Amino acid sequence: MKVGVPKEILDQEYRVALTPAGVDALIRQGHEVYVENNAGLESGITNQAFDKAGAKILNTPHEVFDATELILKVKQPLEDECKYLKLNHILFTFLHLAADKTLANDLCKSGATCIAYETIEYSNGALPLLIPMSEIAGRLSTQVGAHYLEKHSGGKGVLLGGVPGVEPANVVIIGGGTVGINAAKMAIGLGANVAILDKNLNRLRELDDYFHGRLHTVYSTQHKIEDLLSEADLIITAVLVTGAKAPKLITKDLIAHMKHGSVIVDVAIDQGGCVEGVKPTKHSNPLVKINNVSVYAVPNIPGAVPMTSTIALTNATLPYVLKLANAGYKAVLDDAALAKGVNIRNGSIVHKVVADALDMEYVPLT
Ligand SMILES: NC(=O)c1ccc[n+]([C@@H]2O[C@H](COP(=O)([O-])OP(=O)(O)OC[C@H]3O[C@@H](n4cnc5c(N)ncnc54)[C@H](O)[C@@H]3O)[C@@H](O)[C@H]2O)c1
Repeated sequence: MKVGVPKEILDQEYRVALTPAGVDALIRQGHEVYVENNAGLESGITNQAFDKAGAKILNTPHEVFDATELILKVKQPLEDECKYLKLNHILFTFLHLAADKTLANDLCKSGATCIAYETIEYSNGALPLLIPMSEIAGRLSTQVGAHYLEKHSGGKGVLLGGVPGVEPANVVIIGGGTVGINAAKMAIGLGANVAILDKNLNRLRELDDYFHGRLHTVYSTQHKIEDLLSEADLIITAVLVTGAKAPKLITKDLIAHMKHGSVIVDVAIDQGGCVEGVKPTKHSNPLVKINNVSVYAVPNIPGAVPMTSTIALTNATLPYVLKLANAGYKAVLDDAALAKGVNIRNGSIVHKVVADALDMEYVPLT
């Protein structure tokens, strides 16, 4: 199989979809790898490192798409990249289609098979390719929140952990999955007062055991969210219903009752976000201000730490990359988790939850 790795072109997205170790693994199994010039530079990986592992370096994205069948990316293709996609391509990347109908239509038109990292799902509901990015986004969300609570960053000027004699800040985390638990680890480590909400009682039990009572577990209802938000300094949204749009749990009305200078880190923004009226922002200008509350709405948070994220992501994607390279589309037929990743095939949406979220026709995968 000819495998292509274009350079990411989303604003300030510095990750790359394969490391030299991945190139080496593919070459050892008889494949060819084509990497775009300087695709790994911002993740600390030079052309020479890719070349040494056996990849060929090509100058433009067009050449990479043209020369290869399996395209590995990190983020969803932008308009410029969609035009290079063809019927014979398998695109393997984060897609987050539920929040982007235009992209869904463009990808359907291309005829390419599009497999989304974020909907690959084990039978127990675990999402193996979302986990490493969620671990990073969760840990960063607390770090970013602490930064934007500082006065010079537009925040109210509180220290998450307080100091002896001064109360710590209140951190409310909505969603206790991978993002939630990682955000909580950091917030507890910094000494904040942490509450975590989830709709899954078993998950709340696990969190209670895991943190030995060092955080408050709360069953998630709109009533409880409203209650906690009025006292919160930092809110982190970390909910997920696989493939579906994030629920709008934080309305403009609710924000009007929050404390001035508080911060919301809307991690779920890649699924449309939990805050009413907020659209995705960029690392270069990450905040939206609503009634003196800062909302951080960057959909590619792990892009801020590419050296960590590239390795964490490719550790998780490589087993599937090798399967796809070895068997092509047939790999999907032998792997139920990978089959759940297929969002688009032969011009149709073949993932039920994604089709429902987009209000588009669902065609079962055959
Ligand atoms: N912005 C970014 O860069 C970035 C990076 C990684 C993940 N994410 C997003 O973060 C979100 C969380 O990802 P995850 O990996 O932690 O998912 P996860 O499946 O591990 O956890 C989600 C949790 O949300 C809970 N939940 C669902 N509805 C809820 C509700 N109404 N109230 C409270 N809890 C609810 C679920 O029970 C589950 O425990 C997703 O939307 C994901 O796409 C964003």
